[in-house]
Amino acid sequence: MEINEIIKSRYSCRTFIQTSLKPADKKNLDSFIIENSKGLGDEAINFRIIEKDVSDKQMKLNYGMIQGHNTYVLGTSKSSADSRVNYGYLLEKVVLKATEMGLVTCWIGYFDKSFFNEISIEDGFEIPGIIIAGYSEEKQPYLDKFVRFAINASKRTRWDKLFFDYKSKTPLNPTQTGKYSESLEMVRLAPSSGNTQPWRVFFDETENEFHFFKKPISKRYESRGLHDIDMGIALSHFELMSLQNDLSGKWLKHANGIVRTMDDLQYIRTWKCG
Ligand SMILES: Cc1cc2nc3c(=O)[nH]c(=O)nc-3n(C[C@H](O)[C@H](O)[C@H](O)COP(=O)(O)O)c2cc1C
Repeated sequence: MEINEIIKSRYSCRTFIQTSLKPADKKNLDSFIIENSKGLGDEAINFRIIEKDVSDKQMKLNYGMIQGHNTYVLGTSKSSADSRVNYGYLLEKVVLKATEMGLVTCWIGYFDKSFFNEISIEDGFEIPGIIIAGYSEEKQPYLDKFVRFAINASKRTRWDKLFFDYKSKTPLNPTQTGKYSESLEMVRLAPSSGNTQPWRVFFDETENEFHFFKKPISKRYESRGLHDIDMGIALSHFELMSLQNDLSGKWLKHANGIVRTMDDLQYIRTWKCG
């Protein structure tokens, strides 16, 4: 399956079949996690698959509106924006791998940390978010449809509100970015906390660089670090689509003052083409 198809087929599932992962699926996902533990700036995050006993008391999520969950993937990041971005970047790759394997997932930003007493959290570290992984019913249950409708989950912001020319600050014309337009489109389709889509991207044609900025949309999500995870997710979609299209490049974090400040936006990272 091609990455654009995987990205398009992913959605947040909220009703899971109450069952454990099949051993082959667990093994496959586990190997992927181990092979892909190093992320931005070479920072490694040790993710783990945690399976709770189906008969155990369930953790309440979304006031009980997420059902049947008992398998989670999580780890700890440093309590810093950069590390949370990396956490989102790495864990979204796990989400996409799971999607390719036919599993369904949901990112969760609000959960009870004490539910995961298997994970020890050192000082200066945190669990910024988790994902649920599992199997779905064939037919989308009513509750799932209702939640999606309530948060407008399928809606995405228009291209001209997200992607800009770095010099003129005007909306980017897809003809300027050639094959990279598909990478940007995959950013547009990414999941985000409350579907807030806080990413803004500026293309510098002279330097051949894409600068990624965060626009904090929700104070609540920003204070929990969820918008940092959102940014990491966007970076992984951009990278995976670019690599599939044979567009090589690397992630940089420019020193302060190199990338222009943009109103209410916070600079996150740059993709240097080539
Ligand atoms: C960091 C993050 C945290 C999220 N937290 C929750 C959550 O606590 N509960 C929930 O139901 N959905 C959560 N979501 C899922 C989003 O609501 C969902 O991605 C968005 O509405 C877009 O829908 P889609 O994923 O189906 O494309 C979260 C997503 C992200 C990226």
